[in-house]
Amino acid sequence: MKIIRAKDYKDMSRKAANIISAQIIMKPNCVLGLATGSTPIGAYEQLVEWYRKGDLDFSTVTTVNLDEYKGIPKEHEQSYYYFMREKLFSKVNIDPERTFLPDGMEPDSEKACNDYNRIIASVGGIDLQLLGLGHNGHIGFNEPGMAFEAQTHCVNLTESTMKANQRFFASIKDVPRQAYTMGIKTIMQAKKILVVVSGEDKADILKTAFFGAITPGVQASVLQLHNDVTIVADEAALSKAECHQA
Ligand code: F6R
Repeated sequence: MKIIRAKDYKDMSRKAANIISAQIIMKPNCVLGLATGSTPIGAYEQLVEWYRKGDLDFSTVTTVNLDEYKGIPKEHEQSYYYFMREKLFSKVNIDPERTFLPDGMEPDSEKACNDYNRIIASVGGIDLQLLGLGHNGHIGFNEPGMAFEAQTHCVNLTESTMKANQRFFASIKDVPRQAYTMGIKTIMQAKKILVVVSGEDKADILKTAFFGAITPGVQASVLQLHNDVTIVADEAALSKAECHQA
């Protein structure tokens, strides 16, 4: 596991974008696994900037996202599809036909998950998977206790996640109760993994996940077993981990 220390959020975003951009330059037809959430936004902005300068070409890149809410249409502002379109896809020359997320509008969970597993297999697997880190160690929507063997599956969102999401929806009854997520097995099959972590509020979980015991109770801890993981974290997030830049 390689840890790259960044000064702050901006520096973390730039360093992460550099790694993603190197992947695209080294393999123009690569498959990127992407994440939503607030942490990767700066990296996406940086990639867009480099694309606009003519330094990056997404025309042969394929993307597969980690997760999507179940029951929310693509056009909904809170869908992860919408997020990706706003933050990245509509701003670079990626072929929309080559950007994949689980189909949140497929009511049959088994079908939605099998279809997504098939898509990931059909594009040849993931070259570089970008991940954020949840406060409880979740990656994707893989919450504490989930079996490490899981592929794409449907999760019931916890009450606390639903409450936290409530502010984005008109009322509590509009908040999604379920989501489709890549499983840990799928994530671990990516050739390379890049984790971005920022802020003091992530310092405890960064230490627990990457320097503590490997346990399903802390889903991200399994990444210690992957042979090509890079963590780009800012000083605030690394403040409790007493580690040095590799
Ligand atoms: C996003 C995702 C989540 C987030 C995690 C961290 O697609 O699957 O696991 O990466 O919740 O979120 P932020 O970056 O908002 O702290």
